[in-house]
Amino acid sequence: MATFENILYKAENGICTITINRPDKLNALNRSTILEIGKSVKMAQSDPLVKGIIITGAGPKAFVAGADISEFLGLSAEEGTAMAQDGQDIFKSIEHSVKPVLAAVNGFALGGGCELAMSCHIRVASDNAKFGQPEVNLGLIPGYGGTQRLIQYIGKTKATELLMTADLIGAPEALLLGLVNYVTTPDQLLAKCGEILEKIKTKSPLALAGVIRSVNAFYEDGTDGFKKEVEEFGKCFGTEDFKEGTSAFLEKRKASFSGR
Ligand code: COA
Repeated sequence: MATFENILYKAENGICTITINRPDKLNALNRSTILEIGKSVKMAQSDPLVKGIIITGAGPKAFVAGADISEFLGLSAEEGTAMAQDGQDIFKSIEHSVKPVLAAVNGFALGGGCELAMSCHIRVASDNAKFGQPEVNLGLIPGYGGTQRLIQYIGKTKATELLMTADLIGAPEALLLGLVNYVTTPDQLLAKCGEILEKIKTKSPLALAGVIRSVNAFYEDGTDGFKKEVEEFGKCFGTEDFKEGTSAFLEKRKASFSGR
């Protein structure tokens, strides 16, 4: 089992919880933390016992308050470009994870924190959560996919306003705009994520992976999402899971999927 400096990694009952653990810095993403997020998600992917992943932040105040601003000063344009590329690659690996990834947003989700939450498949927020992309305050723009995913979730009109004003929005507004799936109390946050994953865990892992690949295809340049859906649909027919799911329905019993 790998050990991490800034991540707490727990895998239990098929659910892996990855907690970003720098509460004194509101879980700001310094370079080593962001690399550890990538490594820990990869580790969860390759553990056959893990069926779903929850990403959250340590402490009562923040999910992640952004990239670590203290590492910014003195970076060149080339270094800034490399930093954004590395961050985008890691966040894309979360979005393309074939196991479901939930963000349990327990406070500030700003800048890279909002971008991390948006790279997850489902977001559950506690009622004290605050979302925003305040990079323009720093003479910057989002670099980990914020300009793109915010538009995908809430549309160009509101996304452009938030990106330009650096305004933060609370959990109720995030729910209204479609940025989060659910809002709950801080003490119920992980339980709500667990409840969603328990439901998803009963489904075919291969079908779930097909859903994720097809949904992602909608946003990929040069990919015809409808074609991708046809391809993924067809692939299902060659799986044991498909035989099990359809037989179980016809035999009026609960399906038990093997992921083969
Ligand atoms: N990078 C580095 N350090 C950060 C950070 C970030 N993005 N966000 C918070 N911290 C640190 C603070 O510097 C402070 O450290 P210190 O105690 O050593 O001085 C600690 O976390 C607590 O933050 P503080 O600002 O004192 O808390 P607050 O409750 O007064 O304010 C925020 C909370 C989130 C409003 C404020 O921390 C903030 O604006 N953070 C930056 C948000 C941002 O711009 N994110 C995008 C970055 S690209």
